[in-house]
Amino acid sequence: MEAENSIYGGRYPEMEAVMNSLAEDIRAAAKTVKENTGMNPVEHLKYRIKTEESMREKCRRHGIPETEESALETIHDAIGLRVVCTFLDDVFAIRDYLFSLPDLEVVNEKDYIRDVKPNGYRSLHLIVRKNGYYAEIQIRTISMDTWAALEHQIRYKKNVGKSALIFDELKRCADELASTDVSMQIIRAAINEKDDRS
Ligand code: GTP
Ligand code: MG
Repeated sequence: MEAENSIYGGRYPEMEAVMNSLAEDIRAAAKTVKENTGMNPVEHLKYRIKTEESMREKCRRHGIPETEESALETIHDAIGLRVVCTFLDDVFAIRDYLFSLPDLEVVNEKDYIRDVKPNGYRSLHLIVRKNGYYAEIQIRTISMDTWAALEHQIRYKKNVGKSALIFDELKRCADELASTDVSMQIIRAAINEKDDRS
């Protein structure tokens, strides 16, 4: 799409640069955490710039004009990164590293791991600002990511979204996965302790 027709105007190349630089920050965070724990904390990392279509749809949903100003200043997730961590502790280790960076400002934090959404959704969301752009960074475990991917698929299926039975089952799955995350964390701690003694 021509820059003059895009909701991002001519800002797309700069947005890509900021997104790539944030991805580098996450890779650096992973390297630092690995030096401390001996294990790679990041299972995978994904990032994207919100498509033209879904940004315009979001502007309409929020009742704001479909402009560059809306897309880059009012809405804060034009740039989005998702960090999927191996263990629960890793989520907070990555978070702490990002908070320590001088050229990255955390403007908002939502901890849906502590404050679980009613449907069972868990994740840590940071809205950050770097080099003049906002970005949303979602940090979660593999289990949380699995659940979110499944729930996202189901949400768009007809009738299913409104069924109380399915809502309850999904919530139960989310809680079971969360308890598995805690168990896995305990197993890792036990392995590390054993390593330290041997
Ligand atoms: P928008 O949803 O982006 O309008 O903003 P918000 O202020 O509601 O932010 P929130 O932190 O609740 O959600 C931001 C993003 O997190 C969403 O776009 C999804 O990617 C993800 N998310 C939040 N809640 C859920 C959920 O219940 N299920 C799934 N699968 N993803 C969710
Ligand atoms: Mg939302």
